[in-house]
Parts: sequence; structure tokens; C-alpha cells
Amino acid sequence: ATTLGASAAASGRYFGTAVAAYKLSDSTYSGILNREFNSVTPENEMKWDATEPTQGQFSYTSADQIVARARSIGAKVRGHALAWHSQQPGWAQSLSGTTLRNAMLNHVTQVATHYKGQIDSWDVVNEAFADGSSGARRDSNLQRTGNDWIEAAFRAARAADPAAKLCYNDYNTDGQNAKSNAVYAMVQDFKSRGVPIDCVGFQSHFNSASPLPSDYQANLQRFANLGVDVQITELDIEGSGTAQANSFAAATRACLAVTRCNGITVWGIRDSDSWRASGTPLLFDGSGNKKAAYTAVLDVL
Ligand code: XIL
Repeated sequence: ATTLGASAAASGRYFGTAVAAYKLSDSTYSGILNREFNSVTPENEMKWDATEPTQGQFSYTSADQIVARARSIGAKVRGHALAWHSQQPGWAQSLSGTTLRNAMLNHVTQVATHYKGQIDSWDVVNEAFADGSSGARRDSNLQRTGNDWIEAAFRAARAADPAAKLCYNDYNTDGQNAKSNAVYAMVQDFKSRGVPIDCVGFQSHFNSASPLPSDYQANLQRFANLGVDVQITELDIEGSGTAQANSFAAATRACLAVTRCNGITVWGIRDSDSWRASGTPLLFDGSGNKKAAYTAVLDVL
């Protein structure tokens, strides 16, 4: 096939991108989105600060625009993210204890209910583990409500939208290390106790300090072996030219080599759409031209 989405679909996978609602009116951006991708992740529009800016008052306009575009182009939606320590509205940041726990669970229930039946996969919990060698949970207001906050969020999401696949998503878990070992142990525990979890997302933000790990495929595979699907959820790779193209090809190959790796999402369309402060980490240049990295990915798919 001649597009990322159609090529991925040939092996039962999707190829997605993060989408910003305010860019949908940009014809270059929209043209590439509509042509190339069969999954979308709202870049910011489904986060807690966007969807519940005031407690109990939900605001879905921007996220709904992305969901509507996804439907019109036949793309899946990856919901991102129901519970996260970052991008919380101010009112939630100032809560703690049972009050915060209940506000979080209500948020999960309300948002998952609003989008019931329209979300392929939800990032139910994002970035809950600490970096480094501790293997511990990240300290956050949510973590301080009790260690069971993650499973409580997953149970609430399942109750609200039983058809959506429920994922845990994190970064620096792409290779085997203390952080990914801790996520692995959590997934194993959830599976053994019947806590609903269907998938694990690996953000895969790579740069020269943190390149594509040599055991990327092995790490995806060990999670798949626990009985969950795995996805590359926020792929971007700093660099340019052949070196960057080779890294994108290697990431794509790693996913294709894992039967349960059923989707790849890049975190933006053009280099100019990237959240990164500098660099050229995506598949299209600022003018929307296909880069060497694009061709390398398409060749592998
Ligand atoms: C980023 C967005 O791309 C930016 O626009 C925003 O300012 C900050 O968040 N991990 C995640 C994503 O899970 O939600 C983050 O997205 C990038 C890192």
C-alpha cells in the first residue's frame, strides 16, 4: 500500500498520529492526516485540564472535533489520558486524599461514558512510575491517595465503557530497566487478580541521550507474553537523514515482529507540529513533505 495507515492495516495494525484540534483547519496538516493515518490520539484535548476545567463541568468541544474527524476518515481513536499527574486542572491539583480519589474516579467515569463506543483504546493511567532505579511509583497527588489508585481507575473505566481496550502508558519503559520491570510486575499482578487491563503503551520518545534500546523488541514481547496487546504510542526520534530513517525503520520492525504489537502512533505529523522544543523528530518536514524517515517506515510496513 502507499500510505502508512493502509500499509499497517495489511497486517492488522494501525498507524496513528497525535492530533491537535486547532490544526484541523490547516489544509496541509489535514490533507496528510486524512491521507496517511488510520488512528488518532488527541494531543491535549482529552486530558483532565481540558475536559473538566471546573469540577463537575465537562468540556468536550475540542476532543469531539477530533473524534468526529476520526470517524469521517475511518480512523480509530486512542483516548489519552484519563488519569495522570500532569495537566490536571488547578482545582484537582489542590485536592488530596479521598476527595481527590473520588474526583479522579468521577472524571474517569464521566469522560469514558461521554465517549462510550467511540474509543478503541484508552490510556487509562499515564506515567505513574518513577524514573531511575527505584522501581517505585512516581510521587504524585494521585499516588498519595493510595497505591490502589491505578486499579481503581481501570475498574471505573471498564465499568463506563466495557468495549474500550484499557491501557497503561509510560515513557522510559521502552527497554528492559527498573522502571519497565516495575510496570511489568504491575501488569502481571493485575492479570493474576483480574484487574481489567488490555494493553500497555510505550511512548518511545527517542533522542541521542536515550536512543532506541537494543532490547526494544524483546521488551515489547515480554509484555505481550503477559496477555496484553502492546502499542508504540508517542513515537518521535530526534535526528535527521539516514540515521533517523534507520531508527524509525528499526522501531517499526520491532513492532511488526511482535504479534500483539498492533499499532504505532507518532507524536505529531510535521516536524513543526512536534511538542519537542527543538529538532526534527517526525516523518514530515515543516512543509508537509515526506522525509527519508517516512519512506523507511513505509518500506518496513
Ligand atoms: C505533550 C503535548 O504534546 C504538548 O502539546 C503539551 O504541552 C504537553 O504534553 N507524554 C505524554 C503526552 O503522554 O501527553 C505529552 O504530550 C508528551 C509526553
